[in-house]
Amino acid sequence: MTPDLTPENPVTPRSAHSPHWEFSRAEPVLVISDIHANWEALVAVLDATEGQWRHCICLGDVVGYGANPVECSLWVRDHCEIIVRGNHDRVAAHPEGLQDFNWLARRAVEWTREQLPPGMLEWIAALTPGPVDYQNCELVHGSIRDEDEYVLSLEQAADCLPLASSTVTFFGHTHVQGGYQSDANEVVALEGEISEHDARTLVQYVDIQLRPEARYLLNPGSVGQPRDGDWRAAFALWTGERLRLGRVPYNLPLTQRKILAAGLPAQLAQRLSAGQ
Ligand SMILES: [Fe+2]
Repeated sequence: MTPDLTPENPVTPRSAHSPHWEFSRAEPVLVISDIHANWEALVAVLDATEGQWRHCICLGDVVGYGANPVECSLWVRDHCEIIVRGNHDRVAAHPEGLQDFNWLARRAVEWTREQLPPGMLEWIAALTPGPVDYQNCELVHGSIRDEDEYVLSLEQAADCLPLASSTVTFFGHTHVQGGYQSDANEVVALEGEISEHDARTLVQYVDIQLRPEARYLLNPGSVGQPRDGDWRAAFALWTGERLRLGRVPYNLPLTQRKILAAGLPAQLAQRLSAGQ
C-alpha cells in the first residue's frame, strides 16, 4: 500500500487535552526522542509498551543517521500528538544549515534528503521548534532557551529550570536518559533503582516519583542512537506523578546491516554497539 504523504499539521494535538488536567490524573504518555531513522529500535519500544499508553509525544530528531527515515517519519506523523522539531529534522528540511554539522552527520543528512519524498520533506519542514506546551508541561528538543543546546550538566540545568513555565519540561538532543530536579533552590540529577526487569521481554524500567512542588527537566533518552553507554533503545512512560525510564534491546545487527547496505558511513553502524 502506498503511504499517504500528505503533510499534516503535526503540532495540533489530535485529542484536545482537558483544561482541568491535574498532575495526579494524567493519562499515560509515551515520550520518545531522537529516533534517528532507526526502525528496529522504534518497533522494539512500541512492542515493549503496547497497551501501556494513551498518547505519544516526540521530542525531535526523527531522521538522520539511520537507514529508515521514511518509515520512522510516517509512524511519528501518524501516531504522535505533538512532534517538536530536532536539529537533524531542521537541517534535513533546510540544508543550508549543514555547514554546522560534522562530516558524519552531514553525510547522513545528505543521504536522508535523497530518500525522503517531497511531501515528507514538507512535513518535516513544518515541524515546530520548542518550547511547545503540552498538558501542563513543556516540550523542547535541546533546552528551553536554545533548541541546539545540549543540557548535560547541573549548571546548565540550574540555568534552564527557572526559565520553565511548567512543573515538567521534557527535553532530548543529548541522547542521555535521565534528568534533573529543582527543589528548594537545589538542583540534583535524578537517580533511580531498576524497579522492573522482565526476563522474557528484557524490558527494564527505572521508576521515579515526581512531586508537584518540584520542577523537573526530564529526558527519555534516545530511541535510535543512545549515547549513555547503553546500546538499548530508550524511552519514557509518564503518568503525571510517575516517570518510568525504559530500556529495551532491539535487532541491532539488522540495523547495522541496513546502515552499511545504504552506503552510510560505517561509523554510524559501529557506534550503536557501544551506545555512543
Ligand atoms: Fe539527536
